[in-house]
Amino acid sequence: MSTASAPGKIILCGEHAVVYQRPAIALPLAGIRAYATISRSRGGAGVCFDAPDLGRRWSMVARPDDPLSELAAIALQRFGVTEPIDLRIAISADIPIASGMGSGAAIATAIVRALAAELGRALDPAEISALVYDSERRFHGTPSGIDNTVVAYERPIWFQRRAEPPHQTEPLTIATPFNLIIGDTGIRSATRLPVGDVRRRWQEDPRHYEALFDAVADIALQVRTALAGGAIDALGPLLNNNQELLERIGVSSPELNRLIAAARAAGASGAKLSGAGWGGVMIALVDPAVAGEVHNALLAAGATRVLETVVSATA
Ligand code: PMV
Repeated sequence: MSTASAPGKIILCGEHAVVYQRPAIALPLAGIRAYATISRSRGGAGVCFDAPDLGRRWSMVARPDDPLSELAAIALQRFGVTEPIDLRIAISADIPIASGMGSGAAIATAIVRALAAELGRALDPAEISALVYDSERRFHGTPSGIDNTVVAYERPIWFQRRAEPPHQTEPLTIATPFNLIIGDTGIRSATRLPVGDVRRRWQEDPRHYEALFDAVADIALQVRTALAGGAIDALGPLLNNNQELLERIGVSSPELNRLIAAARAAGASGAKLSGAGWGGVMIALVDPAVAGEVHNALLAAGATRVLETVVSATA
């Protein structure tokens, strides 16, 4: 029997624009994870999945088109397993689904890691990331690749998609630790919906959206410089500017706006939505002295879950 896990993630800045080849910054959330446990079974049932958190149970034979069935089939092929094999894959996650915290990529990464462990194979993060990217594509059409990359490498990254792989992925330098609070609107929104909507509007008015994506890219560059120089004071206003652009791109929502306003009013130095938007989570940059107040303000404003995380300095 083999168990493996993978972290959730948040996007600090640059979501949506990253689909259009602008840079973005993503951070793993080491304490919030997805788990996969693989056990050998008998009786010729093949590969069976059991995901009580998702309220689902299925077999690869009955649902070969399921994205996780396809992922397991591709991974088994990659590991050279050609004979029929009986496996039970149990999946669980602390990460709320469809919330902007990368649950899809984390579940897929945990499955690939657990399969590799059970079959005694070694896979490096680049190979895991590539396998998971294929699976993400089935969930939402045109993923940038940032989710699978940050989850597979499990470290803060600077990511820029290229027209053709390999995409640019660099470890991010963080000189000074900082505190983030994550507020969940409780509204589940599938990533492909806002991503598809932005694409339709971009196709209708490319110049307008290209200019907004350029402005987001400029913020990502400034955030990278601030993090590398330990200038945490500069970070809050940059996150606020990114939120304003995300509103203009059309991916915020009344519930996200309410949590963002509450966090700022309670003393957060910056706040924005994180991930695809229209629901899911927002993040707030806080001084530890006001973290408790911001936490309570988010709950009072309707957050269904509030998490506090310290982003460590990188070596
Ligand atoms: O909501 P999430 O965690 O799937 O993040 C989506 C980030 C986007 O930039 C909106 C899409 C992408 O593929 O990068």
